[in-house]
Amino acid sequence: MHNRVNISDKIYWVGCNDRRTHLFENYWPIPKGVAYNSYVIVDEKIAIVDTVEKGAMDEYLDNIEAVLDGRQADYLIVNHMEPDHSGSIRSLTERYPNMQIVGNKKTFPMLKGFYGISENLLEVKEGDSIDLGEHKLNFAMVPMLHWPETMVTFESTKGILFSGDAFGAFGTLDGSIFDDELDLDYLEEEISRYYSNIVGKYGSPTQQALKKLGGLDIKMICATHGPIWRTHIAEIIAKYDKWSKYETDEGVVIVFSSMYGNTEKMADNIARQLVKRGIKKIRIHDASKTHPSYIINDIFRFRGVILGSCAYNGGLFPAMETLIHELQNMAVKNHILGIFGSKAWGGGGVRTLSKFAEAIKWEVVAEPAEALCAPANKDYNQCEEIAESMANRLKELYS
Ligand code: FEO
Repeated sequence: MHNRVNISDKIYWVGCNDRRTHLFENYWPIPKGVAYNSYVIVDEKIAIVDTVEKGAMDEYLDNIEAVLDGRQADYLIVNHMEPDHSGSIRSLTERYPNMQIVGNKKTFPMLKGFYGISENLLEVKEGDSIDLGEHKLNFAMVPMLHWPETMVTFESTKGILFSGDAFGAFGTLDGSIFDDELDLDYLEEEISRYYSNIVGKYGSPTQQALKKLGGLDIKMICATHGPIWRTHIAEIIAKYDKWSKYETDEGVVIVFSSMYGNTEKMADNIARQLVKRGIKKIRIHDASKTHPSYIINDIFRFRGVILGSCAYNGGLFPAMETLIHELQNMAVKNHILGIFGSKAWGGGGVRTLSKFAEAIKWEVVAEPAEALCAPANKDYNQCEEIAESMANRLKELYS
């Protein structure tokens, strides 16, 4: 049996699960896999909405054939050109040579660049629509959500939003396709990690897109990854609104880099002092062990961040360097920061973290604590000072 699911009378999900890939975009861990969602609308005219990553192509083409039952596709709607969705376009054009590829003016240079395709193009602009017969597709541009060419397609007779990556999630669709058929608790971190890792840099474009889509009567959201939202639409939109405003909860993420445990001791000390001051939501990560994907996700969740690093060759420890580079690159906003670390002679860890604080413009709550070799009483006192200031600021912000 082919992988196709009716999402309404004549609209089908024809996506594929990927349980084999370890790293999404060859960087982000996906221990629960990922789904590439594509959809087919069968009407007087037939439209396919987005495609799948090329590794899943054979199964995907079979799924489409089973839905089309000998008919030809008339349109391929390309909401997003990242190759996890555009990877099967060339094969589709070979199979359905008369199919028109629908995109916007920023779609087509990428289509030519990635796949050498420059024929049978139908350019749409903001507010344009295509009639398929019974169904009507309306197009809205959502640039930088999360690429410049991204757009969404709204099927107005059924109220279905084909949203591209927006509202997507990591995690395969294990028999269930709709949000009310699956265990959302199991996927919770995969939903927020998808936002923070992939879309997180683009808070402002996400806000603009939410405002634009706010007037639509949306009955179903069909993203290119993760479940189809039909029961928890308000909740997922509220989450995107919160995340893209960089709104966080009361809590502290402590991340350390430690070669021989001295900086780690300071991390534990700060955590204990925070707990004594009433902070309950504390996450400690060793930057050498935990992938930045998970650390960044926790930082999107909690207001307080405390970073600690030993010195390493006169600078920052490499794992911490990677993390702060990503935080800066993503321009993560709206956090308060504490800094600690250790050195055996000239230092470099704490110094670099202080420069990072200036660059990213996070409020530093207290003077850094920096131990010489191993933490002494005065260093633990400064750790306590950091915890005290952090707890006080959080109480001010969340009272
Ligand atoms: Fe799922 Fe931006 O591609």
